Amino acid sequence: MLVMKGIVKQFPGVRALDGVDLDVRAGEVHCLLGQNGAGKSTLIKVLAGAHQPDEGTIQFDGRTVRPSSPIDAIRLGFATIYQELDLVDGLSVAENIFLGHEHARLGFVNRAAARRAATEVLRRLGHPEIRPSAEVGRLSPAAKQVVSMARALSHEAKLIIMDEPSAALAHDEVANLFRIIRELTAQGVAVVYISHRLEEIREIGDRVTVLKDGRTVAVGLSARDTPTGEIVSLMTGRNVEYVFPPRAGRSPGEEVLAVENLSSPGVFSGVSFSVRAGEIVGLAGLVGSGRSEILEAVYGARPFSGRVSLAGRPVGRGLTGRGVVGTVRRGMGLAPEERKAQALLLDQSVTANITLGTLPGFARFGWIDRKRELTEARRLSEMLDIRPPDPERPIRTLSGGNQQKAVLARWLLGGRKLLLLDEPTRGVDVGARAELYALIRDLAERGIGVLLVSSEVPEVLGLADRVLVLREGAVIHEGEAAELDEHRVLDMIMNGRAA
Ligand SMILES: Nc1ncnc2c1ncn2[C@@H]1O[C@H](COP(=O)(O)OP(=O)(O)OP(=O)(O)O)[C@@H](O)[C@H]1O
Ligand SMILES: [Mg+2]
Repeated sequence: MLVMKGIVKQFPGVRALDGVDLDVRAGEVHCLLGQNGAGKSTLIKVLAGAHQPDEGTIQFDGRTVRPSSPIDAIRLGFATIYQELDLVDGLSVAENIFLGHEHARLGFVNRAAARRAATEVLRRLGHPEIRPSAEVGRLSPAAKQVVSMARALSHEAKLIIMDEPSAALAHDEVANLFRIIRELTAQGVAVVYISHRLEEIREIGDRVTVLKDGRTVAVGLSARDTPTGEIVSLMTGRNVEYVFPPRAGRSPGEEVLAVENLSSPGVFSGVSFSVRAGEIVGLAGLVGSGRSEILEAVYGARPFSGRVSLAGRPVGRGLTGRGVVGTVRRGMGLAPEERKAQALLLDQSVTANITLGTLPGFARFGWIDRKRELTEARRLSEMLDIRPPDPERPIRTLSGGNQQKAVLARWLLGGRKLLLLDEPTRGVDVGARAELYALIRDLAERGIGVLLVSSEVPEVLGLADRVLVLREGAVIHEGEAAELDEHRVLDMIMNGRAA
């Protein structure tokens, strides 16, 4: 159905695509794999008409095509779900879904018809609770992902490109996404699927193409039968052991964080737990279980009733939710879930983005110690393998996964007592993931308390010492990670059965 040959795309100083080939058959799920910065998003942006290639050809249904703009690509029958969601926050769900549609082109949308159609697509996606009239800016990241998907489906495309669609989704929603993908492929629609989660590739993929440094290194491998080790070494050029660092077995130190009877009407209620120095506590639960909101409340960014203390002293302003300045000054750091919107200064350099949260630490006699700032930022970029290795580059020009690493680097930089990590490995490739796990474990060994939220249950179990299982805003289980297994946790978060 689709044949891309010799695609080249040059950005200033970076050859993002250096002669990439891709062929996709009707009705298949074709997975595109590669490390952060390999060129995956750039390739699909060429297909989506967002980038013009410098060289190469694209054939679709036997015809040579050249998508010249996103609208043009849609007309050709390509729909794209981008890695960075490109929704308009100020518009409603229905308006976002039908933005760019043919019948909306004259600046005129038949509102009633659009709402009805939106209701229909959202229902098909298994999300009837998302109202077409709701303002997109007020939705959770997961709900935004659903809206973006609804928009792609609404075009009745022949080829749907999904750039890390599962990154913002929890376990049950991924199952739902896969159900939809199967429905689409059964109708002959082709899906190009990008993900860093290899177990997903096994489950939903038919064939795999691997990119490395802007080149195709493997074409059309079987998604089910190719050994994981082979895929990983094609991606990284080395053997990566995808394991969690061992726990030290030391007993944790003093209590850094105490949360007592934390409540916020309709979001979470009666949540109590503590985090000790040197301890990693994981929160497992579905999207909407209150995980991220609990982190925000602890951070002082969300009103709550109850009590939060950092190293024995109460923090936050409870009901006003304006305690962030205080919690940061006293050594708390939050790496939020929706990094692009909440955490990045897109036009600033990688260094500026890394050192943002810690600036006071680099100020001496009122001057910012630029040299030290730069040295530290370099050290962390190297450690996390942020590419390209150029700390002066605007962060906007980095690939999604590399932006992600930079935000994390910010919080790993010096002087914190407690780190709140919301989906720290989202969008990070397998190689860098292992580094990141080791780094988080290392920080804990050095006496920092870590509160971790992740949709990936194996990650919570592998990294945390203690796990809290959340369901509908309440803690339904608390226990040692070593005594839990994935099935039991999944059973609890999905069915509410506390074993
Ligand atoms: N607008 C841009 N200007 C300059 N360089 C860019 C731009 N967009 C991407 N790049 C560079 O092109 C390369 C490929 O980036 P791309 O976003 O395609 O990677 P990716 O495979 O999607 O990675 P990830 O898994 O992190 O999303 C990277 O080196 C990136 O820094
Ligand atoms: Mg990408």
